[in-house]
Amino acid sequence: MLKTAICELFGIDYPIIQGGMAHLGTTELVAAVSEAGGLGIIGSGNADPDWVRQQIRLTRERTSKPFGVNVLLLSPFAKQVVEVVLAEKVRVVTTGAGNPGIYMSSFKQAGIKVMPVVASVALAMRLDRAGADAVVAEGTESGGEVGETTTMALVPQVVDSVHIPVVAAGGIGDGRGLAAALALGAEGVQVGTRFVCSEECIAHPDYKDKILKARDRVTVVTGQSIGNAMRCLPNKLTRDFLAMEKANVSKAELEEFGRGKMRRGLIDGDLEEGSLLAGQVAGLIKDIKPVKVIIEDMMAEAEAVIRASGRRII
Ligand SMILES: Cc1cc2nc3c(=O)[nH]c(=O)nc-3n(C[C@H](O)[C@H](O)[C@H](O)COP(=O)(O)O)c2cc1C
Repeated sequence: MLKTAICELFGIDYPIIQGGMAHLGTTELVAAVSEAGGLGIIGSGNADPDWVRQQIRLTRERTSKPFGVNVLLLSPFAKQVVEVVLAEKVRVVTTGAGNPGIYMSSFKQAGIKVMPVVASVALAMRLDRAGADAVVAEGTESGGEVGETTTMALVPQVVDSVHIPVVAAGGIGDGRGLAAALALGAEGVQVGTRFVCSEECIAHPDYKDKILKARDRVTVVTGQSIGNAMRCLPNKLTRDFLAMEKANVSKAELEEFGRGKMRRGLIDGDLEEGSLLAGQVAGLIKDIKPVKVIIEDMMAEAEAVIRASGRRII
């Protein structure tokens, strides 16, 4: 069976981590992923600390297996969410949108495993030196906030630059992606868009359906001009947003325009005015399956691909 350093680090069966997605990384999805042998991650997004505490406690009622919390560093509640994570003795923290350096010593003192998400070699190296236990190298194919380098190019460069295990994210939706990530030197994968299309994810069915119908070239990136690049499915919101960026509308106005749009798309299912975050891998996803089946299929396919690759060498 396929086991890696990431399985050992987090005490999980399979090297598959569910990306801590804002609005969607709720106890339903998180507990399902952890119960199935992966690592579920609560997506705190911009949620208030009470919501995060409640999600941690609900998840503990559903599973005794390890799970984590994603702290979105740009959230107005980031500091309070960190306090909740420390008080609740969560085992694993991932961080999004920046450098978690100021919280690192508190996490380490509390014995929490820290795995920041990075989109560059420089940040990966800095966080390795600061005591991170692993990093997620996230390529621009990903759904949600993105950097510029592809997973294929980024992962091996990060692997060569740090001394800690690397998890690949962005564009991974099946066992072929998992096998490819391992070939690049990663010790596991973080998966977002594929888990949106799971039975357990609380995303609105119309948004899930839109991912199922998406083709390979469909996603667009908004917010690049204001340093907040987000990959999503195209709709009226992205067209309006991109037109405003082209017209040099101020950052403050764009941020105001974008406020509340994520919930509107992901949870309310407003396909035109809501934000429909999704990665380029959307075109590969054709069905909604239980989390356990997604994970088991991914593992079985990765093992088959790796075995078949070995047989090609004569
Ligand atoms: C709907 C959605 C919401 C996301 N929200 C967050 C977030 O709040 N914090 C974060 O670090 N990453 C977030 N991500 C990124 C995922 O955690 C993950 O790294 C990414 O989706 C991997 O790429 P993939 O979509 O190609 O699998 C989000 C992704 C999606 C699709």
